[in-house]
Amino acid sequence: MLKKVGILINGGDAPGLNAVIRAITRTAERNNIECYGFIDGYNGLLKNEFIRLDKSPITSGILNKGGAIIGSSLNSNVFKYKVIKKDGSEGYKNLSKICVENLKNDEIDCLFTLGGDSTQKSARDLSLQGIHVIGVPKTIDNDVACTDETFGYNTAVSVATEALDRLHTTAETHHRIMVLEVMGRYAGWITLEAAIAGGADVALLPEIPYDIDKVVEKVKERQNIGKNFTVVIVSEGAYPKGGSISVKETRDGGKGVINIQLGGSGELVAKELEKRTGLIARNTTLGYIQRGGSPTPSDRVLSSKYGAKAMELAMKGKFNVLTVLKNGKLSSVPLEDVVGNNKKVGAVEGGTKDSNMKTIPMDHDLVKTARSIGICLGD
Ligand code: F6P
Repeated sequence: MLKKVGILINGGDAPGLNAVIRAITRTAERNNIECYGFIDGYNGLLKNEFIRLDKSPITSGILNKGGAIIGSSLNSNVFKYKVIKKDGSEGYKNLSKICVENLKNDEIDCLFTLGGDSTQKSARDLSLQGIHVIGVPKTIDNDVACTDETFGYNTAVSVATEALDRLHTTAETHHRIMVLEVMGRYAGWITLEAAIAGGADVALLPEIPYDIDKVVEKVKERQNIGKNFTVVIVSEGAYPKGGSISVKETRDGGKGVINIQLGGSGELVAKELEKRTGLIARNTTLGYIQRGGSPTPSDRVLSSKYGAKAMELAMKGKFNVLTVLKNGKLSSVPLEDVVGNNKKVGAVEGGTKDSNMKTIPMDHDLVKTARSIGICLGD
């Protein structure tokens, strides 16, 4: 019998987090199950800091609210946690046992982990220590394996589409090339879907190293038919053929976490196009606007579905799984499938050959559609 459940969020925020919290809490309340939220994700789990969510006014009015009322941890791998040693030097410690003890002492029967690739990897590692976990796939990048769609993605696409609409009119007025850099480290879902929705002429994705000459050709082809402007959308993780990903900064989050901050791919494309076409090119980096603010109705519904399904699975005792959407239907897959070959305990860094991210397959309908309507993909 399920008596107490806990919720934890890890990684960058995504619109819909509060809607998931609300759905889990409401389902718990209706089934006389206590529900707690760990403050600031894995950090709160380490410190055993939590708040009660059920039978509390805290979860009222949050369905349409951006961010997360319980916070989130960033770059926190409890299996390789950055600590300051007595002599002042930095080191890394496996603190997962503290998390396990806290969860056992708090008598949490199931921990819901709301997060992307790295979060679910840590969740799977905790499950190997006897903790019952159920993952919910969150990220605006839509790159979590085994599910059709993550919550937060639809909102990010809608924000990027609005930005493209706005850039379109100014590009047309001033006969310029307008470049929009959007998020997507290793997968170009936001880029491609927004390109189609926002009528971009060029979409550059991490999945297809681009040839800048092909983009120049597209600009010229448009000029030849009297269209003196071009709208380009670029993933932060896109890079030129034979080149490398644009890194803004390397930060020290700790071992086993993603330590590079991307940025600059749009600026690079704008500079190259200006040089090669003679047209003025400007870059806009959309950044964190894609992650903040109110979720779209579609994300509110998806998040509510995921939250309710996660509780249903918990009540049935189906643990150590990720709630997923498969061909439009709610379902679940073992966390082992989600981590793929990234089996080593404590290893969470994404974008490695073992990480199991969902990138865009080249035979995907979005790719076919984009090509068919003449969007240049840089190849
Ligand atoms: O994972 C989502 C994401 O939006 C990535 O696309 C982006 O690279 C990253 O977050 C940046 O977030 P932060 O600066 O918080 O690490």
